[in-house]
Amino acid sequence: MPPPEAKRAVNRSAASLEVDAVTVSFGGLSVLDEVSFSASSGEVLGVIGPNGAGKTTVFNVVCGFVRPSSGRIVWRGRELRHQRPYQLAHLGIARTLQGVGLIAGLSAVENVMVGAEPIARTGVLSGLLGLPRSAGEERRLRARSLEALERLGVAEFAEQHPRALPYPVQKKIAIARALVAGPELVLMDEPASGLSSGEIAELGRLLTSLRGEMGVLIVEHNMDLVMATCDRIVVLDFGKVIAAGTPAEVQANPAVTEAYLGASVESESAGA
Ligand SMILES: Nc1ncnc2c1ncn2[C@@H]1O[C@H](COP(=O)(O)OP(=O)(O)OP(=O)(O)O)[C@@H](O)[C@H]1O
Ligand SMILES: [Mg+2]
Repeated sequence: MPPPEAKRAVNRSAASLEVDAVTVSFGGLSVLDEVSFSASSGEVLGVIGPNGAGKTTVFNVVCGFVRPSSGRIVWRGRELRHQRPYQLAHLGIARTLQGVGLIAGLSAVENVMVGAEPIARTGVLSGLLGLPRSAGEERRLRARSLEALERLGVAEFAEQHPRALPYPVQKKIAIARALVAGPELVLMDEPASGLSSGEIAELGRLLTSLRGEMGVLIVEHNMDLVMATCDRIVVLDFGKVIAAGTPAEVQANPAVTEAYLGASVESESAGA
């Protein structure tokens, strides 16, 4: 039998998430058409494509918000079927949504504690609702959550309520909530939206620091972020994968240029 380290090394290099011939139709209209790609633990994978290409739908299928009409999502060799979004965290998959989705009635650190649920020995929510939980457990989860806020550089806002905080700070709190339980895969839908170029560069450094620690799948519009941080990129257009490869390969692929040029010409003429 191989030693445990060798086994872990093998698992790390294997594809941990497989999107296998996923088709999604809404009202007879096919939004994803046999989309297949895989993501390995420890890599940063980008999913890009013009508006309406199906990026968020891919994200939603993996999260369990949308059921595919056909095809499979396989996570660490096991098909994910009928999973509810809240069950994902216990499988080691965390996510941040296109908006921020923080709970208004909880402070920043309490929001992050909600993300710590998978590592709690008793329910975090029951704790926040004032139901019995040991003080030691509460302290442990709070400390972990503060560390996550610190990693994102927003620990100073721990006791404040998210609504009062600037949008970029809220986004960082949401990322801290996704990371706090130490997931094996984190999914982010448009993490760069609403951020300044300086904040996007900072986000890029964070994503790079996550490489090797967990798999990262970002659905993103911002090309600079994607090109600078992703190990591999999957390009969607009209619900189909039109290209996949390293940033350099994707940038040099004429089908990609064409898809984006077509999209910009269309939106220009729509705006005219
Ligand atoms: N619930 C739904 N019902 C019907 N059509 C939908 C639904 N969700 C998405 N669509 C359609 O599916 C297509 C893909 O949408 P999706 O949101 O996945 O694209 P996207 O690549 O994320 O776009 P964007 O870049 O604008 O965020 C679009 O034509 C959209 O109108
Ligand atoms: Mg989208």
